[in-house]
Amino acid sequence: MQTLRTVAEVRDAVRATRERGGSVGLVPTMGAFHEGHLSLMRAACAAHDLVVVSLFVNPTQFGPGEDLAAYPRDEQRDASLAEDAGADILFAPPVAEVYPDGFATSIHVTGITDVLCGATRPGHFDGVATVVTKLFGIVRPDAAYFGQKDAQQVLVVRRVVRDLNLDVRVVACPIVREADGLAMSSRNAYLDAAARVQARALSRALDAAQSAVAAGQVAATGVLAAAGAVLAEAGIDPEYLELRSPDDLAPADAVAPSALLAVAARIGAARLIDNRLLEAS
Ligand code: PAF
Repeated sequence: MQTLRTVAEVRDAVRATRERGGSVGLVPTMGAFHEGHLSLMRAACAAHDLVVVSLFVNPTQFGPGEDLAAYPRDEQRDASLAEDAGADILFAPPVAEVYPDGFATSIHVTGITDVLCGATRPGHFDGVATVVTKLFGIVRPDAAYFGQKDAQQVLVVRRVVRDLNLDVRVVACPIVREADGLAMSSRNAYLDAAARVQARALSRALDAAQSAVAAGQVAATGVLAAAGAVLAEAGIDPEYLELRSPDDLAPADAVAPSALLAVAARIGAARLIDNRLLEAS
C-alpha cells in the first residue's frame, strides 16, 4: 500500500488502473480505524481492482466547540490496518491540499440536513457533502463505501450524487457492533469505564423498539416509549430519539412497513449515535 499526500499523486495512481480497464473503490474516512472501517475496506477490496482509503479529519464538518482538536489520530496504526485489510492507496492529505487558500465552495443539501444530527450540528453536513464531493472528484471512484451507522450521512451523500449527477455508486455497509451491542465508533475511545457501561443502553434501546414492533406495536408512540424506557433506566437523556422515513427522514408516525429509529446522546465525554431500520412483519 502506498500513502499519498497530494491530489496529483492520487489522480496518477488511479489513472493507471483505469487505463488498464480496472475498477476503483473509495472508502472515505477520518481515521482511528476500527472493525467498522475495516469492513468497508474489505467490501471495497472484494469488488474493485484498486481501493483508495482517504484519511482526512475534515475540519469543515466540525462546529465550534466540537472535538476537532481531540479527534483520535494515529496514521501509522491506521496505515498498517488499511494495508492488512487490502487497501492499495491511503490518501492522507494535509489540510491545505484539500482546502487551499481561497477555497470558497460549499455544498448544502436542504431538508434532510435540518433534522436529527443536522438540528444540533449546523453546517456539519455541508462539510461532509463538500469533502465527499471533492474526494469523488479527486478519485473518480466507481463506488464509495460508507457505514450505515451514519444513516443520515448516507442519505445526504446519496442526495448529492443524485442531484449533481455524479457517476458513483454509494454503498452502505451494515453497522459493526461490539460483543455487547455498542456500535463501533472512533468516538467510543472517549468513554471511561462507567460511560462505556452506560453506552450499551443505546443498542438495547433499539433492541427494545424492535421487540415492540415484533409484538405488533408499530405506532411511533409505542416504539419510542419502548426505546425511551431503556434509555431512561440507564440515565440517558437523548439529544434525539426519533422515528423517521428511511428514504427522506420525514417524521414517521408508524413502522409501516418500515421506519428508521435513530438516536443520539451525550454519554460521558462522547456524543454517540446509533440507528436501526425497523420493519413490520
Ligand atoms: O464518516 C466519516 O468518517 C466522515 O464524515 C467522512 C465521510 C469521511 C467525511 O469526512
